[in-house]
Amino acid sequence: MRAKYLKASILASAILGLVHWSSAALAQNAAASDLYKRGLAATCANCHGTDGKGVVDGGMPLINNLTSGQILEKLKGYKSGALEGTIMPQLAKGYTDEQLETIANQLGKR
Ligand code: HEC
Repeated sequence: MRAKYLKASILASAILGLVHWSSAALAQNAAASDLYKRGLAATCANCHGTDGKGVVDGGMPLINNLTSGQILEKLKGYKSGALEGTIMPQLAKGYTDEQLETIANQLGKR
């Protein structure tokens, strides 16, 4: 009887430990993914300002007035060659479509 109880409680704590471990891993994944998204979008801050808020009188177009959809449309246009530009066409070609989508979602007007 005792041994059975002991076994059950060992099993229960093993399961609890596993659940705890996997939720910690999930939280870590979410943090890493958030960092990845912010990191991708941070590339744009040099010219467009932090979080797309723009550098006033910086001579660069402000993008904080655009929605995610509008930003994505522009980025895809620069990538495909449909839109002309000095810098953006070269820059946009360096990203996968998924990365452009992530960036647009990160920077778009909310
Ligand atoms: C080195 C400076 C520079 C960097 C870095 C940069 N941009 Fe640009 N961006 C420009 C310039 C200059 C233009 C005007 C078009 C051109 O000449 O390429 C522009 C135009 C745009 C436009 C169109 C704005 C409009 O109203 O038509 C969007 C959207 C945009 N950039 C998004 C981004 C995103 C997103 C990133 C980050 C992946 C980024 N830019 C990084 C300089 C930059």
